[in-house]
Amino acid sequence: MPVPTGEHREERVVPMRLQRFLARAGVASRRGSENLMTAGRVCVNGVVTTELGSKVDPSRDVVTVDGREVRMFERPAYLMLNKPSGYLTTMSDPYHRPCVATLVPTNRYPGLFPVGRLDRDTTGLLLFTTNGNAAQALLHPSRHVTKHYVALVEGVPSARELAKLESGVVLDDGPAQPARAILLTPSDELYGRVAPRRAPNGTSVVGISVQEGRKHQVKRMLAAVGHKVVRLHRDSFGPLELSRCREGAWRELDANEIAAIERIVANG
Ligand code: URA
Repeated sequence: MPVPTGEHREERVVPMRLQRFLARAGVASRRGSENLMTAGRVCVNGVVTTELGSKVDPSRDVVTVDGREVRMFERPAYLMLNKPSGYLTTMSDPYHRPCVATLVPTNRYPGLFPVGRLDRDTTGLLLFTTNGNAAQALLHPSRHVTKHYVALVEGVPSARELAKLESGVVLDDGPAQPARAILLTPSDELYGRVAPRRAPNGTSVVGISVQEGRKHQVKRMLAAVGHKVVRLHRDSFGPLELSRCREGAWRELDANEIAAIERIVANG
């Protein structure tokens, strides 16, 4: 029988759907857990279980995925990576291109995956977790999680163009929600993240906050007001700020950061 461990040991549980159990245990999102089940990778008490309506009692039943036991009360892992340019946000690549999986300790934290995506050439804060539920919540538009980016762009956006970003530009897949955008100066702390030796002639540095996470969101928004992004860096994700983490390195979130993340997840 699995022995609950970790700080949530006292939580009362009742039989629940297997896919919900797997998501709560941080194996994958609900949908991902259903896929694992239908693929025949999940066993309950030694029996392969593909039936999506199946229920488990977490205090009695032994659930395994690919033969490895899953417990609901193990504390999920949360790490931040300071992503370098040149790495795909994926845990494997069929063409053997560099991907972020090689930069984080997947052996120590089985089931680790990135929360959302950064483009291959984007640098900065990428959150990883083993908690599928938390990832789903953090990425859901209803949670309005703000992401802040610093962009080196061609040209110098005018006040009018920045105001356009703030009122919501139209992208080819629909209007973007209003963003906050300001021109940064070399004295701004974040300026150096994309222009360590000052922005080259004909370029400037913009700080932009968005809540959406569509593909190439920031690059497309800045392009929509006439400024191609040359370099893009994310310095915050919701309550998390990129700190104590040099480029290419990862660290575990501290207790305050985890509490802040879990507050967002709980307040859905
Ligand atoms: N917006 C982009 O255009 N690219 C990223 O990597 C992240 C946000």
